[in-house]
Amino acid sequence: MCKIIVVANQKGGVAKTSTVRNLSHSITELGKRVLAVDFDPQFNLTTCFGIENPNELDHTTATLMTKMLDDVALPPKENFVRSIGKVDLIPSSIQLSVVDANLRLEMGSEHLFSNLLESLREDYDYILVDTCPSLGTLTISALTAADEVMIPVNPQLLAVMGLQELTKTILKIKRRLNPKIQFGGILLTMCDKRTNLYKEISSQVDAAYRSGMRIFDSQIPTTVKVGEANCCGLSVLEYDKKCPAGQAYMELAREVLVNAKD
Ligand SMILES: Nc1ncnc2c1ncn2[C@@H]1O[C@H](COP(=O)(O)OP(=O)(O)OP(=O)(O)O)[C@@H](O)[C@H]1O
Ligand SMILES: [Mg+2]
Repeated sequence: MCKIIVVANQKGGVAKTSTVRNLSHSITELGKRVLAVDFDPQFNLTTCFGIENPNELDHTTATLMTKMLDDVALPPKENFVRSIGKVDLIPSSIQLSVVDANLRLEMGSEHLFSNLLESLREDYDYILVDTCPSLGTLTISALTAADEVMIPVNPQLLAVMGLQELTKTILKIKRRLNPKIQFGGILLTMCDKRTNLYKEISSQVDAAYRSGMRIFDSQIPTTVKVGEANCCGLSVLEYDKKCPAGQAYMELAREVLVNAKD
């Protein structure tokens, strides 16, 4: 049974992309088949997998979505899924912003991305989707495809602001577009446990959400190694086996697998 996990938060820079990059690798380390999907026109996830010029690729989420919009048959999967290490990837490009605009004009278009992923479900145990920092059409399409949404929160910023809007949007999507969507949980990223700010914000998140939603026990520590690994096109675990952030993403992968059995 494949699970589609969409990583979303309209707040920018909370480690959505870094989480998809690292969690996809960690889940493959546990012997599962993973497809990572870049659904952000910024194509940061694609870059984090070491692809330098995605705008020159023949097949990306942008070209595939354009075909879906035009009711044109998709190419064979082998042509558009790229294997990078043990993870499979569908890259993105800047052209996805054109798709974003076109999706707004098409009736029923919220389901097109879901249809694309459904055709790939049988090949994977997990499909992880990276989204852009907005609650616009692309993110709504991604959430319409989701079995679960994982919400990274950076406790160094004004973290709780915007979470209510996000949860409201997810509930609206559950009612109108995708009854199967579940809250996978909140993931605290970029944690510096020594600071008062971390203590304050993490207890605020706990107080506001613990009763209604899982808050992952795994928390990702702040370290420059995540950014360095991203720059090298590697997961942090491959970049530096001993890095605590890599270990934390391994723990998160174990939690995700255990929770899948619940
Ligand atoms: N655990 C961490 N420790 C330190 N820096 C981190 C950590 N995780 C991510 N970063 C850095 O924070 C920045 C934002 O991360 P990332 O791009 O993953 O966030 P995002 O939510 O995907 O951003 P956007 O909203 O723009 O898509 C990047 O420079 C990344 O290298
Ligand atoms: Mg991102």
